Amino acid sequence: MTTRMPFVGGNWKMNTTMATATELAAAIRRDTADLVRSCDIVLCPPFPYLPAVAGELAGGGLMLGAQDVSSEPDGAFTGQVSASMLTDVGANVSIIGHSERRRYNAETDDGINNKVRMALDSALWVVLCIGETLEQRKAGNAIEVILQQLRHGLMDVPADQMRQLVVAYEPVWAIGTGMTATPADAQEAHRMIRFELKTLYDGGLADSTRIIYGGSMNASNAAELLGCEGIDGGLIGGASLKSDEFVKICSIAAEQYQSKQPCEGTPAP
Ligand code: PGA
Repeated sequence: MTTRMPFVGGNWKMNTTMATATELAAAIRRDTADLVRSCDIVLCPPFPYLPAVAGELAGGGLMLGAQDVSSEPDGAFTGQVSASMLTDVGANVSIIGHSERRRYNAETDDGINNKVRMALDSALWVVLCIGETLEQRKAGNAIEVILQQLRHGLMDVPADQMRQLVVAYEPVWAIGTGMTATPADAQEAHRMIRFELKTLYDGGLADSTRIIYGGSMNASNAAELLGCEGIDGGLIGGASLKSDEFVKICSIAAEQYQSKQPCEGTPAP
């Protein structure tokens, strides 16, 4: 049985207004009061709403995350937001390397690695996103691509900072499309990621690192994904904008925590 605390993140992307962001945060805080002891929950609103959402979450046991962070400490970097600015307004997590940033902002594995190291050095937790495109999966390269992104993203990250890091496996073709990886495919990707962590670090660290799944997870399909051994939570986009749906996913993650079974169809390690 796993001992890893589940981790569920709400990635609000470029959605909400000041009013709806604070309303959503308040509702999630209210309805997760009993869950925060058995599930790490982080809300990632757009940058301008971080301070207001921090106010709503204060004392509630939820974490506050940003959707990105600069690799630079400060200076002439128009439009960027530094790790110290994030901690200054109460954020304690940053998503890094999301596929939408890799795609629309031309983020590279090198740049992502610089951000990861900056965030960890600034005591932020990191949700490092990796995932293959449909073309890469069809060509049979999915595992190779995600392991390469993982190795590159973690370059020069020391073992003692890895407890601040969560890996999010997000197949690009599953994000915002309504398609999810099958539980068996997702579990296989997670198993390979964990094996790679063992190679890069050691078995203890691989066992204790949370690896979460992202890509069209919702309240209806969360149980079969989160029920898989090795899937330690979710990064939720669309479904995190509805408090009932998001809270339901958190409660499934907390319940599943106690009773993990290998998924049917998954090859034995
Ligand atoms: P989705 O997004 O749940 O809307 O597919 C997930 C993500 O991008 O993290």
